[in-house]
Amino acid sequence: MLRKLNTIDFQSPKNNFGRTVLIRFDFNVPIENERILDDFRIQQSIPTIKFCLEQGAKLVLMSHLGRPNGIVDNSMSLIPVGEKLAEILEMPIKFSHDCISDDAIEVSRSLKDGEIHLLENLRFYKEEELNDPKFSSKLSNHGSIYINDAFGLAHRLHASNSAITEHFNVKGIGLLIEKELHYLSESLKNPLKPLTLVIGGAKIGTKIDVINNFIDIADDILIGGAMANTFLASKGINIGKSLFENDKIENAQKILDNAKKSKTKIHLPLDSTGPLNNLINEKAFTVKTNQIEDNMIIADIGPETAELYSSIISKSKTIFWNGTMGVSEMSNFSEGNNKIIDSIVSSNSESIVGGGDTISSITNYNKSLLSEFSHISTGGGAALHLLCGTKLPAIDILDKK
Ligand code: 3PG
Repeated sequence: MLRKLNTIDFQSPKNNFGRTVLIRFDFNVPIENERILDDFRIQQSIPTIKFCLEQGAKLVLMSHLGRPNGIVDNSMSLIPVGEKLAEILEMPIKFSHDCISDDAIEVSRSLKDGEIHLLENLRFYKEEELNDPKFSSKLSNHGSIYINDAFGLAHRLHASNSAITEHFNVKGIGLLIEKELHYLSESLKNPLKPLTLVIGGAKIGTKIDVINNFIDIADDILIGGAMANTFLASKGINIGKSLFENDKIENAQKILDNAKKSKTKIHLPLDSTGPLNNLINEKAFTVKTNQIEDNMIIADIGPETAELYSSIISKSKTIFWNGTMGVSEMSNFSEGNNKIIDSIVSSNSESIVGGGDTISSITNYNKSLLSEFSHISTGGGAALHLLCGTKLPAIDILDKK
């Protein structure tokens, strides 16, 4: 059975090491010149940290950052994460420059109640991504209770979220994973209707299974971004010089055929906005979808589409959104996407958003709107997994043992 934090007895065993909780977080945040550009994932770890501290626990925190491929790379050090945690929690954080040395383990073993010890980047060891049992065994010496709250990594099986679970009798999920599962999995079982899936971004590849999973569950699926171009091309519509996936045309056709047999309505752009020849060309044109010229690049949904999508969104009671409606990082091609943000925010719905680019598009438009969504997922691949209706292996493993 999957154990939640509130079912764990942090007082037992009574020996001094008993209350040392080893927590796997996903502190994989963007860092430039040792400066954290976006601390969202760190902020989302705070409720679990505070909960454990309130139980009188000692905490050892571990995470990966970036993809250093088993090599120590100081530009991917977790030192800035430790500093950020210290700033948010207003307390000192002990830091070890490695993960498994005797010294690092000694720091964990000599923690006092309420103290926190952060380990260096787990991916400085190639054994982490190899799910190596010896490495995980050494890591397990840091605590007597194991908690996984690294939602963003839960679609992968690595030493710190998989093999390590063998070494603990007392183990479970943190408050962030609990919340993510609630919004991305449980809320899908009995959603308030009408339910709308808004899906975009560049690639159909990873999202085919999401769309298929929502056929019959969603009332409406609104497609935008370069992904819509592949669907338009699959219907024989000229998309000019726009980005699309030639090898996914058949998949797009199948999805549209499946939707026809279901009660789910798939909507494609009625009009599009974009420049001619290249994206640097500032001048944008808006044309009906059936009038796209050979040298046009679709860079955003047009106003008629934004209006239609907004009216469907305004009637929805549950909205899942993953993937932008266009090249929203360029302000002259973000109007359609911004209208979608406004309409979700002003709808009286449960709104669940995932995907790094989608979240950035909200931040770029108006950061204060982030708090208006019911849930912003911290996971990219992991969130898509749940939206596909598949289980997350690193959570499943805690459920079985
Ligand atoms: C993420 O940012 O999606 C997670 O931290 C996983 O990172 P990875 O794709 O490098 O495994």
